[in-house]
Amino acid sequence: MSMPDFGALRTDGLSARLQGLPTHEEVFARAVREGLSKPGQKELPSIYLYDEIGTALFETITLLPEYGLTRADERLLRRYAPTILEHLPPPVVVAELGSGSGGKTRWILEALARREPVVYYPIDMSPSALAKCQHTLSSLGSVSVVGLEKSYLDGLSEVAARRRMGETLLVLFLGSTVGNFDRAAAERFLCEIRQRLLPGDALMLGTDLEKLVSDLLQAYDDPAGVTAAFNLNLLARINRELGADFVLHNFAHEVRYDADERRIEMHLRSKQKQTVRVPAADFTCTLQTGETIWTEACHKYVVEEIPGMARRTGFVCEAQWVDGEWPFAENLWLARPSSTSTP
Ligand code: AVJ
Repeated sequence: MSMPDFGALRTDGLSARLQGLPTHEEVFARAVREGLSKPGQKELPSIYLYDEIGTALFETITLLPEYGLTRADERLLRRYAPTILEHLPPPVVVAELGSGSGGKTRWILEALARREPVVYYPIDMSPSALAKCQHTLSSLGSVSVVGLEKSYLDGLSEVAARRRMGETLLVLFLGSTVGNFDRAAAERFLCEIRQRLLPGDALMLGTDLEKLVSDLLQAYDDPAGVTAAFNLNLLARINRELGADFVLHNFAHEVRYDADERRIEMHLRSKQKQTVRVPAADFTCTLQTGETIWTEACHKYVVEEIPGMARRTGFVCEAQWVDGEWPFAENLWLARPSSTSTP
């Protein structure tokens, strides 16, 4: 499953057109057309799950008793923030890929602010996510929040350009968002992060771990149906933004665990043979009874494989912390000098 980068995309539709760049709508329409015209498994890129409504539904997912991931992430950061900082020489500048709601990051920023004033750069494509994060964290004294409305890698390039000599850059990539990439793409992305860092800079990578398949299936198919709503909202979004005529009742939320790939997959299963029009993509799609559209992949890890991922992408895994209640690991990586890189 691919994760498009929005590097060349302007947020303002008019100026995008004037500059000959594709607008958000055009990029979205193209992704929908391409994903739904795949000859085998139809798919839609998971990034499009996270519009305003999708983000609100995801935040609700994080409160569900069946979904322990976010609470584990936060428990680890809260408990180990002071220990984590012992590995990072001051002054530290913090950048976060995906602004989240600020709840988890708060623990790191609080601990840092006890020793020095901190600059924190949340990086997110969504202005409302940035605003929310700014609001949550504004109460913390001696933390300046500078939101960057950019793709992860463009935002990180900007932070790198702004950083001064002697500062340690701490990049946060929490919540197992890395699990949305397949394993090869994840390592390519981690290499891209490394290229924007200097030796001694740090990456805090949150990774959800393998656990009982029945627990995983419950976490992604909760009985209250919040995850189902989160998944179906993708079709509603295509209706809203591209004028499509998906009938949401004709689709069912489906969750599978692929034991070979070690990932949860979210699909939308067509309950009947149906044809859907997507006018903005100039496209019509026919789905057979039982056919699915693959919408998200959530890869799971074992702690032992993480140091290898670090080495292959230009880092060294300095420390790992694992939650006792919900298997999840916080991994602190340090950027290695590039001259000693090994393949
Ligand atoms: C935000 C990608 C980490 O994979 O667990 C939660 C997304 N999807 N429930 C995850 C998600 C359905 C979540 N990540």
